[in-house]
Amino acid sequence: MRLIRLASLRFVPLLLVLVAAQTALSQSIRFLEDKKLFVLQGGPVSYVFGINERNELQHVYWGGKVVRDADFQPVKSTREWSGLDLSQAYTPQEYAGWGAGLYTEPALKVTWPDGNRDLVLHYESHKIAGDTLSVLLKDISRPIYVELRYTVYPETGLIERQSRIENRGKTPFSIESAQSANWTLPDATGYRLRSLGGRWAGEDQLVETPVKMGMQVLESRRGGTSQQSNPWFALDQDGNTDQEHGDVFFGALGWSGNWRISVEETSMHQVRVTGGYNTFDFAYTLAPGASLETPAFYGGYTSGGIGDASRIMHRFERTKILPDGSGLKTRPVLYNSWEATEFKVDEAGQTALAEKAAAMGIERFVMDDGWFGKRNDDHAGLGDWNVNPAKFPNGLGSLIKKVNSLGMSFGLWVEPEMVNPDSDLYRKHPDWAMHFDGRPRTEGRHQLMLNLAREDVKEYTFHWLDQLVTNNKISFLKWDYNRNFTEPGWPEVPVDQQKKIWVQFTANYYEILDRLRKKHPGLEIESCASGGGRVDLGVLKRTDEVWPSDNTEAFDRLDIQRGFTYAYTPHIMMAWVTDVPNFNGRSVSLQYRFLVAMQGALAVGSNLNKSSDEDLAESKRFVAAYKEIRETVQNGALYRLTPAADTNFIANEYAAEDGKQVAAFAFLHSQQRGYGVSPLHLSGLDEQAVYKIRVIKTPRRSPDGTVGALTDMGTLSGAYLTHHGLDLTLQGDYDSVLYVLEKVAN
Ligand code: DGJ
Repeated sequence: MRLIRLASLRFVPLLLVLVAAQTALSQSIRFLEDKKLFVLQGGPVSYVFGINERNELQHVYWGGKVVRDADFQPVKSTREWSGLDLSQAYTPQEYAGWGAGLYTEPALKVTWPDGNRDLVLHYESHKIAGDTLSVLLKDISRPIYVELRYTVYPETGLIERQSRIENRGKTPFSIESAQSANWTLPDATGYRLRSLGGRWAGEDQLVETPVKMGMQVLESRRGGTSQQSNPWFALDQDGNTDQEHGDVFFGALGWSGNWRISVEETSMHQVRVTGGYNTFDFAYTLAPGASLETPAFYGGYTSGGIGDASRIMHRFERTKILPDGSGLKTRPVLYNSWEATEFKVDEAGQTALAEKAAAMGIERFVMDDGWFGKRNDDHAGLGDWNVNPAKFPNGLGSLIKKVNSLGMSFGLWVEPEMVNPDSDLYRKHPDWAMHFDGRPRTEGRHQLMLNLAREDVKEYTFHWLDQLVTNNKISFLKWDYNRNFTEPGWPEVPVDQQKKIWVQFTANYYEILDRLRKKHPGLEIESCASGGGRVDLGVLKRTDEVWPSDNTEAFDRLDIQRGFTYAYTPHIMMAWVTDVPNFNGRSVSLQYRFLVAMQGALAVGSNLNKSSDEDLAESKRFVAAYKEIRETVQNGALYRLTPAADTNFIANEYAAEDGKQVAAFAFLHSQQRGYGVSPLHLSGLDEQAVYKIRVIKTPRRSPDGTVGALTDMGTLSGAYLTHHGLDLTLQGDYDSVLYVLEKVAN
């Protein structure tokens, strides 16, 4: 016994060393002093950069986890290739100032009042605090400092990067490009870029382009995030990846103003992604002592294909981005009045809709545009946020009371950044609208934009919103934004400050949202911008859901939702069931419309006052079925079971986090030559388990012809469902089916 104890004591120091080594390895951020390397590790990801012999921060590695420090060597700058291709141009800096011999995309570009435009950033110091690393860089001679912040999210391996540019000198200088980060991808050829492009009513089209020598730019110059392009990207190697396999590097910017992401393949075939504020029309004068923060830029890696890249984003958004734990709850089923009544809202009409909505199982009733000022169409009223007494003689109070008594919470539409020239606000404060002195003011939807960058406009806006929410029992605001910047002037401030409007407008918008939420805990907000024009990780930190598109036509919506969920979680994706015929003049069945909308946060936007009793009864059953699967749909894992290019047959699977439930949706556009579709192979199932299966399928083939009800279909094993798959009986045009699987035995 004694011998054993003595023997084991001999191993104590070794054990301590091992434990210490293990603890060090489990830290998400480490600095290897001897090699001057920063090692960041989270989830299945390692990210390494170092300080090179010139004292620049140089990228080393981004990809699957590598735990052995000995594998990484100190960094050395890339050698000069020729007198035309200097070392500075090809050394993959983590955050490159435009200066010395840099010809690739800089992270920062400045001009000093004396004309000096040379910026060379060197390492000064660093600090590690938990999962955050901050590295301080400084120009080789001027008092410009840049703090680079890296935050590692251990569960997902996502890395958040942000920079803060600081003027510690005595003279101001002007910033012409302020990016959040340069990301360097592993050396390889044949990268493919995926992004999301579109326009009003045609959002989230998946764009796939090969990355070739040169630069591709994703951006918004419209003042807001925009429908035209969304600040998200994914890069993989075409041919080596699919939905569930292969290396994917992806990222998203958290900014709702002008943004830019450039994807550049240098002539040395290095692929670099740079993102932050758009450089277009950008000039930000930094006074002595002042600083500028760039937007957060999140980057991730997976070897599990684009499907896993999306799931990582979804989980991250729900758990780390959405405010106040919103992403951990489920969204209520909502009714919205817009498509039913447009501007013709009044107490009697809305009450009638509310009664029908409540009977259907709706949990939140939202009154859209038209309740205020002289808002009878889109020509007037924006800016006059007082309740229209002809439409609501008792104010909003009695409608809200009625809605609440029906068991629903109440939500209201607002568009705070806008003003109609035909409004009392504009007549009183024409200078509050964005403009250049003496120039015409371009209208969009008969409205102008308020210059929210102005302190007085910001305060005014916060106060009327605060009053509205204080004086009425409003649980939810649908915050709309129906046009983009034009004439982005700010004549009231000195000329060298005027272009700050691009940054300050959005900063003030965020401030108002933050203050409102703080003052009214529990208030929920939707980000809407004529559809999906303001969906990004910046606004999602302050809102609970988003409106992806004004196009609610179910077949179009299937594709819009598919694009949307590449970057964003179904949890926030509002999806209304509306009347037919709809966009494209298309009419599809109520079942098809519901099954499309049940793949996000379900809502109804039909004119219930015109719906048949049969439709109302069926809708009630769909809403009940949705409530059985909404936790799985909103907070589970999404698997795309059909390729993105296939628009004829689209199938998506949602698997609950605890593995107990799966909801699989499938849609056939048009059957041809009598052929059916192949069985649906489900993903992520427990092959040892047995699943009870229920189905909603086209009434003519469902056992009792009841539309919208889940009917029993017996049981199948996880192995069968994975390998053989679910046999689908989709037929004809616009057919649809929902299978709900419950794990019943192991
Ligand atoms: C645009 C939104 O996207 C619609 O849902 C609706 O709220 C209208 N604005 C109201 O004007």
